[in-house]
Amino acid sequence: MDNHNIALVQATFHAVVPVADEFSAAFYAHLFELDPSLRWMFSDDLTLQRMKLVDELTAIVETVGRLPVLVARTTELGRRHVDYGVEPHHYDLVLDALMHAFGVCIPDRMTPEAVVSWRRAYNLVAETMLYGAAHGSAPV
Ligand code: HEM
Repeated sequence: MDNHNIALVQATFHAVVPVADEFSAAFYAHLFELDPSLRWMFSDDLTLQRMKLVDELTAIVETVGRLPVLVARTTELGRRHVDYGVEPHHYDLVLDALMHAFGVCIPDRMTPEAVVSWRRAYNLVAETMLYGAAHGSAPV
């Protein structure tokens, strides 16, 4: 992740916030199509779904440029996700659903570079969450 990747992730996140309802609908529809058994994990309330998704994106965008903060937060976040019933293979499905929703909602902003930047940011966060899920918080 270089500074350009970080700037692209932040800029595309800001472009999505005004269309968060549409983004959320596209994300969850695609996620549940990929794995209908994930439905039980999430609320049926569309507002709550949207807020959770914005929280999830915010967690990525806020920390991606600050590695020590990122690791401290995401290892804890990963531990909590075990309690939510999240399994390692679910992370790939969420990445697919996110990229799908970006493509639907802000197609013009999702240049190949922006796509690569989001994949890198997501994978960085997801891998450190999985570390936390497997080993607990990162040692300091
Ligand atoms: C990079 C990946 C992810 C990030 C940054 C992320 C972020 C978050 C955040 C910030 C919350 C709010 C609650 C808390 O802080 O503990 C949350 C809740 C939750 N996440 Fe994730 N998450 C990710 C991946 C996933 C995956 C792969 C799944 C499973 C499909 C998942 C399912 C959930 C559920 C079920 C909740 C709580 C229930 C709810 O509030 O609806 N998340 N996530």
